[in-house]
Formats: sequence, C-alpha cells, structure tokens
Amino acid sequence: TWTTHNVVEEQVALIREQVGTKRAICGLSGGVDSAVAAALVQKAIGSQLTCVYVDHGLMRKGETEQVEKDFVAATGANLKVVDAQERFLNALAGVSDPEEKRKIIGREFIRVFEQAQLEILQEDGPEVAFLVQGTLYPDVVESGGGTGTANIKSHHNVGGLPDDIEFELVEPLRKLFKDEVRMVGQELGLPDEIVQRQPFPGPGLGIRIVGEVTKERLDLLREADAIAREELTAAGLDREIWQCPVVLLADVRSVGVQGDGRTYGHPIVLRPVSSEDAMTADWTRMPYDVLAKISTRITNEVADVNRVVLDVTSKPPGTIEWE
Ligand code: XMP
Repeated sequence: TWTTHNVVEEQVALIREQVGTKRAICGLSGGVDSAVAAALVQKAIGSQLTCVYVDHGLMRKGETEQVEKDFVAATGANLKVVDAQERFLNALAGVSDPEEKRKIIGREFIRVFEQAQLEILQEDGPEVAFLVQGTLYPDVVESGGGTGTANIKSHHNVGGLPDDIEFELVEPLRKLFKDEVRMVGQELGLPDEIVQRQPFPGPGLGIRIVGEVTKERLDLLREADAIAREELTAAGLDREIWQCPVVLLADVRSVGVQGDGRTYGHPIVLRPVSSEDAMTADWTRMPYDVLAKISTRITNEVADVNRVVLDVTSKPPGTIEWE
C-alpha cells in the first residue's frame, strides 16, 4: 500500500544502497522539490550529504532565512550558503530585456553552483560522486525517462582537479507527483512554509521587475510582495490562488497625491491566477475587500509606490509572469 511512510523507508534504503560510503551534493533552490529531495537523502546518509544554496538576492522576503534556518533546523543538513548577491546585481546592471535577464541569471547561477561544487570536491576529495536532484515523475515523462549523469567542467582554474568531473544522479522523487512530494516533505518534518510553497520562478524577482534590476528596486518589490502574501494568507486564499506574482513597473511613473503633496511613483501590479498546471490560467476573482487591503497597505508602507493595479488577463494570451 502507498503511504508516505513506506515511500520514505523505500527511498532511504535505495539511496543508502546507491551512495554507499561516498558523498553527495544537493543544490537547494528554496522550492519544494529540492528541499524534499535533500531531506530524504539527508535522512538516508546524514553527514555524507552537503547542501548548497546560492543566494542570488532575487528571493522574496524571508525565503533565504527559511533555507538557512528552518530547513537546517528540520533536517540537520550540512549547508553551504554562497552569497552571490553582488555578483548577480553586477551581471544584471543595465539590462532590461527579459530574455537577456533570464540568460544572465541562468548562466551566473550555473557558474556559482559549479564553483561551490568544486570547493566541496577540494575539501572532501574524490569521495564526492553523487548529485541529488528533485526530479519529479512528470519531468521524467517529459524528458523521455532516462536516468543520467551530470558533467561539470573545471573551467574555473582552481587547479588540482580533473578536467571533467562526472556525478551520478540521485533522484529520489522520480516516482512522485507534486502533491505526493508535499506529503513526503511533511512526513520528513519540513515546515509548511517550505512544503506548501506556491510556484516561484528560478530567476526570482529578477523577472518581476519590468526594467533594470537594482538593489533598491528588489528591496521595494520584496516589501510589496510580502504585504500581498501576508494578506492573501490572512484571507485564507492560499489554496484558491495558484500563485500571485507581484510585479514592479520600474520604468513607469504616475502622478499621485499623498498627505498634502504630489507624488510621482511606480505602479505595482497584482497578478493572482487560478490554474491546474500553469499551462493555462485564469485571473482569480478574489474579494474586493482583500484587494483593497493590499492596495492600501502597499501604498502606505512601500516608499515610491503610489498605485496598485490588478492584472485581469487570462493565460493565454498573457503568461503568468510578466517576463
Ligand atoms: P508563465 O509565465 O510561462 O509561467 O505562464 C508558468 C509557470 O512557470 C513559472 N516559471 C518558471 N519556473 N523557472 C521556473 O522554475 C523559470 O524560469 C520560470 N519562468 C516561469 C511561473 O511562475 C509559472 O508558475
């Protein structure tokens, strides 16, 4: 019979058999899949696992702390946090084009992660032979079903390492659907904030700022996003709403009035959507009073924002994200 308990027991045994006495690395993204995969492997091989979290500075408020504190507290995992915020900001400076931003973020992410892998290899030596990935069943079906290996090339000039390092993949979620992964995460004692997290794009807030990404704009968007999330949760809408991107139109300003002064600030867009699988979506007809609360709070509490607008476009024709 299928129970989360059985799934955990079975996977723990399989992981132990696969990894043996060697060591493994797992990249954490802040998302559900990588967290549950890491927690499973941690349960199986304990200190033979090292987790890596790249802090690219594009996460929402509190998410990096969730990984650094809550994930570690729940699992006891070894965690290497790489603070790459400056690096990402520098790479993104002056760039407004959405595809260009995505390429830069993806490229920098791989470089920073590979550098971290190499450092771990230098510390722990050739014992590191496995890379953990949170591949789910739908990903397996989509990509044709093969298991594989991952190559990293040591083009970073660190010396003393073979030119080409091959990791064998550990993919303990390959038979699971998303809702099952959440249940397994719960069984493993991960906090709800991680296990029930709504989808969030890898490039993070970098693709929710229409215009150039800067530290100030990220901080501003983080505040607005935190307010929206707080109010949606307080209103009990987390289940009904698939996700609600909060977008900063950084290149747009409009005139407003606040207190006895004229303002010239930026609009924030709320994009609440209802969906089954993100392939299609409809804008969520959410209660006006919740929208009003979010709007009032954002314009009162976030400096330089004087307008909140609601995106009422379905997908298609609009995508869920703005970039
Ligand atoms: P769109 O904007 O294409 O988004 O309607 C569909 C779903 O995918 C998420 N998304 C991403 N997820 N990396 C991800 O891991 C990405 O680059 C990315 N871009 C979009 C989006 O949040 C939505 O759930």
